[in-house]
Amino acid sequence: MTLPQNDISTTGTHHMEGKKAKLISTSSQSMSEAGARIRSGHLVSFPTETVYGLGCHAIDPIAVSRVFEAKERPFTDPLIVHVNDAQDALKLWDASSSEETNDDNIEEKALKALTDEFWPGPLTIVARASPEIPQIIMANTGFVACRSPSHPIARALIEASGVPIAAPSANKFGHVSPTRAAHVMDDLGFEDVWIVDPDLDKDENASGGDQDAVVCDVGVESTVAKVEMLSETLGRVSILRHGAVSLMEILNCLEAANLSGNFEVKEKMQATGEDVSQVAPGQSIRHYSPNVQSFMVSHERYASVGNVWADDEIANLESAVVIDFGARLSSLKEKALAYRDLSAEGNSKTAAANVFDTLRWSENIEGAQRVYFPEIIVDESSTCSGGGKMGALVLAVKDRLTRAASGVVIDCLA
Ligand code: TXA
Ligand code: MG
Repeated sequence: MTLPQNDISTTGTHHMEGKKAKLISTSSQSMSEAGARIRSGHLVSFPTETVYGLGCHAIDPIAVSRVFEAKERPFTDPLIVHVNDAQDALKLWDASSSEETNDDNIEEKALKALTDEFWPGPLTIVARASPEIPQIIMANTGFVACRSPSHPIARALIEASGVPIAAPSANKFGHVSPTRAAHVMDDLGFEDVWIVDPDLDKDENASGGDQDAVVCDVGVESTVAKVEMLSETLGRVSILRHGAVSLMEILNCLEAANLSGNFEVKEKMQATGEDVSQVAPGQSIRHYSPNVQSFMVSHERYASVGNVWADDEIANLESAVVIDFGARLSSLKEKALAYRDLSAEGNSKTAAANVFDTLRWSENIEGAQRVYFPEIIVDESSTCSGGGKMGALVLAVKDRLTRAASGVVIDCLA
């Protein structure tokens, strides 16, 4: 019998005993091997500025089906295609798939304005797909989502593969999104996947120290905006998911391109298989969920309670983890089994960068039976005016915590 051990091979790859997945470094040799792996229809997980993606050749339906299988994701939930240049996305979208550019094509103008302004970066744009796109990546919707990541490792992999890379977040369906190679290994370790791990490069020059360096610095998934035309001159941009790019920034961009008269911009949270809004709070469809029951403590309760919690609530806290934001639940700090604040100062950028790592931390606290978050009330006016990216990230953090708690708000820590 062999003892469990890790084997670090000379090529900088890293196999864990019993696991099929393998960690690879970011060296140019690794990137070129990973690019070849993508071209051959297999899976590579890579960091982006938002979260880790589980990548495959976007135009190869068998490769795409492997992503759905590894994630155990329903085929009704479409994937995002990652490209380095807007030109590559414009070829995948129908608006500009023809050779000649048409000055009167409002849809094409809007797509160009948005990609010019926000790419590379955390904005995914959904638009009508050109006919060659395999239906499997867009779940038969006829619309394809594209994004150009800014993370240098993501860009190097796209470059090395030479093809567009379809990539959902690299977690099992419904679980917390990953922001570190170790998170991907935890969820997909038994799948046939290579995972790009920047920490392996550090291992090689033994100085260590920086193992906890942030890889995915935004920390929450991209904003998803869907562009659709209602007539030749009128269209709609729907914000389907909150990320670092705000609705206000999108409006401003369209205005600067003289398109604000042609498009209405609206928030319209999506109803996909991973969405909780389709079901009553507390029902089984969850998203970003830790494996521990999670609840939001109502704003009404924590704002009025001061430091006064009932005896049975205090007893409950002995087996509860508190994930706070802006010290709203600081009166629980000494009473809970474990306590962390995403940002004690209430900085939403810091909170976004920490939220998924902290949700995963809560799952590993021994004896934890429940997780409590504060309900976050967002003053919409403050997120729009001058809130910029900060504002968008408050909404993104609120959204992720709400989904983690399946929308359940409680008035009592029972
Ligand atoms: O930041 C991100 O976007 C990360 C990194 C890896 O790039 N990716 C990511 O992918 O979050 P995923 O699959 O976990 O989320 C994609 C979201 C889903 O909610 C999906 O419904 C939406 O984008 N989406 C993709 N294609 C769509 C389409 N054709 N129409 C509407 N929504 C779409
Ligand atoms: Mg996801």
